[in-house]
Amino acid sequence: MNKATFQACTDVALIKYWGKKNEQLRLPENGSISITLADLHTITTVEFSSSYNQDEIIIDNEQLDIEVNRVIEHLNRIRQLANTALRAKVVSQNNFPKSTGLSSSGSGFAALTLAACTALNLNLSDKEMSILARQASGTACRCVIGGFVEWLDGNTSDTSYSTAIFSNQHWDIRDVVAVVDSNIKDISSTAGHTTAQTSNFYQTRLQHINRKINQIKKFIKSKDFTQFGELIEQECLEFHAILLTSKPSLIAWQPGTIAVMKTVQALRKSGIPAYFTINTGFNVHVLTLPAYQLAVTQALQKLPCVQNVLTSQISAKPQKLSTHLF
Ligand code: DP6
Repeated sequence: MNKATFQACTDVALIKYWGKKNEQLRLPENGSISITLADLHTITTVEFSSSYNQDEIIIDNEQLDIEVNRVIEHLNRIRQLANTALRAKVVSQNNFPKSTGLSSSGSGFAALTLAACTALNLNLSDKEMSILARQASGTACRCVIGGFVEWLDGNTSDTSYSTAIFSNQHWDIRDVVAVVDSNIKDISSTAGHTTAQTSNFYQTRLQHINRKINQIKKFIKSKDFTQFGELIEQECLEFHAILLTSKPSLIAWQPGTIAVMKTVQALRKSGIPAYFTINTGFNVHVLTLPAYQLAVTQALQKLPCVQNVLTSQISAKPQKLSTHLF
């Protein structure tokens, strides 16, 4: 049967991918480090069949999703590898709000790549799967891996892929996500990447990024949460300084985003180890240790600007499921 279903988790970058040295191949200007999130996932079923005359894509129960053309382009890449012209039906469900800065394209294209390749009996290694997923969405090349992930800064397609630096069992960190809005963000990350070079600070960022990558790996290895947290929060603010000073300026935050950031800093003053990081959207990832997850969740839930709080542990690799979505 040419049908398969995969569940892949989203991730949050600790050291962020921003800017591409090759847009078509999605080769980033710098390496990045992330953790994949067990409780924020996409489930995708793909079926290839001669009974389909065209590709049909349904994402979160909608057929007219903004990502449809990108999905079809990726199916074409996979069809080419499998040497088939069969059309596909794709049904995909997210359990968290998409296009709000929570990297739904990462989990989405990871699940799509794994399900489509499995449905067409393409036997790819983790490295090959990461390279293939990368071409649809940069984040997806990390999400196909799981655990603590490094996306290597290669100059060619074959050398730009992700590996697990530690499994999800290495260190129990919790992500408490403050959802301040579930509406779609103004500017996609894909569009934002193209403006990275226009910030006067971007070259300075690139000069220091490898040092940051080495430091975060060291802090993860030694499980030093204070140094880990200080570095990821500083990295988040540096990344947003690039967005703010790009032309045109990309102001991702909403008032609620800033309220959450200030609450996290106040929590720290009261002795709770919690640090924030934010992607190109407005929702905020707050990283903490298990003993403080409840206190952080309760503090965020009390804020009038917070609509919802999602909590997650670090995930293992994406999973093949035996139950299909159709
Ligand atoms: C700020 O992976 O969404 O979240 O490759 O164009 O799909 P495309 O971009 P995307 O960019 C993610 C940017 C980021 C940082 C990160 O996740 O590393």
